[in-house]
Amino acid sequence: MRLVFLGAPGAGKGTQAKRLVEKYGIPQISTGDLLRAAVAAGTPLGKEAKSYMDRGELVPDSVVLGMVKERLSQDDCKKGFILDGFPRNVAQAEALDKMLSEMNMPLDLALNLDVPFDDLMKRLTGRRTCKVCGQMYNIYYSPSKVEGKCDKCGGELFQRDDDKEETIRKRLEVYRAQTEPLIDYYSKKGILKSVSGTGSIDEIFNSICAILEKIK
Ligand code: AP5
Ligand code: ZN
Repeated sequence: MRLVFLGAPGAGKGTQAKRLVEKYGIPQISTGDLLRAAVAAGTPLGKEAKSYMDRGELVPDSVVLGMVKERLSQDDCKKGFILDGFPRNVAQAEALDKMLSEMNMPLDLALNLDVPFDDLMKRLTGRRTCKVCGQMYNIYYSPSKVEGKCDKCGGELFQRDDDKEETIRKRLEVYRAQTEPLIDYYSKKGILKSVSGTGSIDEIFNSICAILEKIK
């Protein structure tokens, strides 16, 4: 199963992708996570990416495309993959199509998580993530039992650098201008499905699985 997750910042792509990894055993490829790892490691790529990410802008396509190509050519992607946060604009989508056609691994599905714009700010300002195991919480919707500590492993929770109100506004603007047109792009290709991203995480997961069972 080869799929692309579409949806605005905060729509729940990462949350749902992690659950699909557990259920279907295929890797999640999050360009945001790959970029944040490069920033944390202080690599030249990370240094270049950081200024864009801090401003809420897209990192240049050349940087992201190289990273994705390398990741997709690893063995574990042969059984399928979930692309989360990529592609982010039409140029990236076209480059991905070309890449996957050369690898003989075309996409099965583009899944759009649809969440009203007004909910996104609260989801993003409230997001907290465990430094140790990556478990995600939300101070408004799904807080940890002890403030600032992970329920699963006791690790410290942190807030992402780009989850500040001003940066979030910019990310949402960039989404509208550059990423939202991909809904149309994949719809024209006949592989788009939309799912409501409001409701409980379990409810949304069940709707997604119902769609995936049909294409398996
Ligand atoms: P990236 O890391 O991709 O961030 P994003 O797209 O802004 O998406 P998020 O991770 O913020 O949201 P999500 O949809 O995964 O939501 P989540 O599940 O966490 O990108 C960051 C930056 O990297 C970009 O700005 C750019 O600079 C760069 N970048 C990345 N990819 C790039 C690319 N391809 N090209 C160029 N640049 C790129 O959930 C959010 C919160 O909501 C959590 O607290 C969660 O607990 C909560 N939540 C989830 N589901 C629900 C629910 N059903 N009800 C209530 N709360 C919920
Ligand atoms: Zn943890």
